[in-house]
Amino acid sequence: MLDELKLLYNTKLKQEKEKFGNIKDLMDFLNKEKLTPQFEVFTTAGTDPIVNVGGRDVLMFSSNNYLGLATHPRVIEGAKMQLKKHGGGPGGSRFLCGNIDILDDLDKKVAATVGAEDAITFPTGYMANLAIFNTLMDPLLGALPYSKNSGVIFSDEYNHATVVDGCRLSSAKKIVFKHNDMADLESKLKKFSKNKHKMIITEGVFSLDGHLGKLKEIADLSKKYNCIFMVDDAHGIGVVGEKGGGVPQLLKITKDVDIFMGSFDKALGCMGGYLAGKKELIEYLRIASRPYIFSSAVPGVLAGGAIAALDICCDQKGAILRRNLMKNSNYVGTKLKKLGYNVLGDGTVFALPVIIGDEDKAIQFSTRLFEEGIFIPSFRWPAVPKGTARVRVTPMATHQKKHLDYLVDVFYKVGKELSII
Ligand SMILES: Cc1ncc(COP(=O)(O)O)c(C=O)c1O
Repeated sequence: MLDELKLLYNTKLKQEKEKFGNIKDLMDFLNKEKLTPQFEVFTTAGTDPIVNVGGRDVLMFSSNNYLGLATHPRVIEGAKMQLKKHGGGPGGSRFLCGNIDILDDLDKKVAATVGAEDAITFPTGYMANLAIFNTLMDPLLGALPYSKNSGVIFSDEYNHATVVDGCRLSSAKKIVFKHNDMADLESKLKKFSKNKHKMIITEGVFSLDGHLGKLKEIADLSKKYNCIFMVDDAHGIGVVGEKGGGVPQLLKITKDVDIFMGSFDKALGCMGGYLAGKKELIEYLRIASRPYIFSSAVPGVLAGGAIAALDICCDQKGAILRRNLMKNSNYVGTKLKKLGYNVLGDGTVFALPVIIGDEDKAIQFSTRLFEEGIFIPSFRWPAVPKGTARVRVTPMATHQKKHLDYLVDVFYKVGKELSII
């Protein structure tokens, strides 16, 4: 009897292994290495300066809602109006019933904000990045004068995971250049100078490193080597540039960028993503990009919110919010540096990456911050290189001085306690 049970048990185990491979072993390993993230539940808007977690109020210093627009009355009103008109979801892609009037307005608004001729929108920024690379580098029915496998994509080594995934969908060769290293990029461009179909992709704001992408220099190299130049400005749109048009607007190189990509869910406080560029290119994407054709459109409710957020960014109110954000960020950055923290960045970026170094210490640090009433999870390998674990402090335009002072006091207390400063 016992033998039979043992046999049954072992057979079951074997079958489970066959079905799910080594998932359990992997999960055990990740747990042991403390690589599994904690998922906290917020019972109030997780984007506000003060949020409620498990019945406790804590200060939020890790939201991408940089300008505080997620709960801005104009954004809520814009979303509400479209929710009433179009309901909860679009019911299909833009090819079917999802092509609602407000999405045309959103396309136009995005194009005007970034300074492009036209734009196309997606339910997430991730989808925008999944849409662009194979549509452009593996052309539909030979619409472009390039064959499959002939393209080359040059991508900054620190580019976001969504860029990496988008590139994986293309048959083009992927060449990774050292972060913001123009000599390395040029040497790689030289190697492929005979190849006619080339593209460079970098980010506008490297928020985990506290600085901008070298867009001016890359624009020059793009011209020299005749490459398509794309900027992922997920963290720049709305919050950088005189009118919130993003990093190309700030650097006055809008005309040199071929493809602008961005997300509505960071400074714009909504959700969705876009690709913008020349009319002809966008029209091609409308009929050729698979995530646009085979997935549902942006719901009206999100489009209504995003348009209101873009309106705010482009007017006086947006300029005031951007000033408040930079004031708050500079205040915290200066104080943390004075305490002895290694704060990355050159002061141009509002997000403040603070290096803790050791992975375990970074976890301890975040845990202690949380106990003291501050929510900032840590970024660790593989999100950042080993030994450079960090917390990214994201002050928002809506934080008050007392919130910032409390943060600095807690960083002093916990930093001393854990011998980080
Ligand atoms: C640089 C960058 N690109 C793209 C994305 C994806 O945007 P979304 O969150 O809208 O899918 C993110 C999101 O974190 C990002 O940081």
